[in-house]
Amino acid sequence: MNPPPTAAEIGVIGGSGLYALLDHATEHEVDTPYGRPSDRITVAEVGGRRVAFLPRHGRDHRFPPHKIPYRANLWALRSLGVRQIIAPCAVGGLRPELGPGTFVVPDQLIDRTSGREQTFYDSGAVHVSFADPYCPVGRSTVLDSAERVKAVDGGTMVVVEGPRFSTRAESRWFTAIGGTIVNMTGHPEAVLARELALCYTAIALVTDLDAGVEGEHGVTQEEVFAVFADNTARLRDVLLDAVVKLPAERTCACKDALAGIKLPIQLP
Ligand code: ADE
Repeated sequence: MNPPPTAAEIGVIGGSGLYALLDHATEHEVDTPYGRPSDRITVAEVGGRRVAFLPRHGRDHRFPPHKIPYRANLWALRSLGVRQIIAPCAVGGLRPELGPGTFVVPDQLIDRTSGREQTFYDSGAVHVSFADPYCPVGRSTVLDSAERVKAVDGGTMVVVEGPRFSTRAESRWFTAIGGTIVNMTGHPEAVLARELALCYTAIALVTDLDAGVEGEHGVTQEEVFAVFADNTARLRDVLLDAVVKLPAERTCACKDALAGIKLPIQLP
């Protein structure tokens, strides 16, 4: 029997400049208890795997980072059957060696956002472990696929509230506290995925050196979009390779994130 057209096991949440990914896809309006996701979700088969794609900002880039319906996005993907997510995003480099065009697969994040809805659990005692915010299996799979673009293995993503870029002092401080890259969307996306026991792997494309890096002029939006556009084809190749290589059976701890916890809501 064929799966329903909405069924998907792997989700890709596209960042700035990546508004479409899949060929021969079907499009679906999905509703959730948290409202509508950023856009219609497209679903297609890639190398025998069912993949759902959702542009994080909407395909017309309607949602700035602080207004993205993160909870609806994660819930919608899970409701289609998605259990593993790859999340590309644009970032600024906080170190001179991480120049524009560099890919980084981060292993840590620092949350500097404020006021965003960052949990599904507004009642009950649900405290997920978040020491390692990214899926180890997803990371090694994406790193393998990203060998062709010489991706950097590991790094700490500082997530700022935006929508403004950081001051030089803030940026220097992010580097001093151990940050390697900075962006505006990595949180609460990663923790919401964990709260739904999903595997979540970020792949960051450096579009600029942040304002605190020696000799930098300060970031512009134009620069960010231009570098992302120049690298979309490389990113697409990596993503389409990785979705095929992700293991069908999950063996990581992400799937057990809610084990033994009494949930106050029923997950889709
Ligand atoms: N996204 C891309 N470049 C960025 C930067 N320098 N700061 C925050 N978010 C970004």
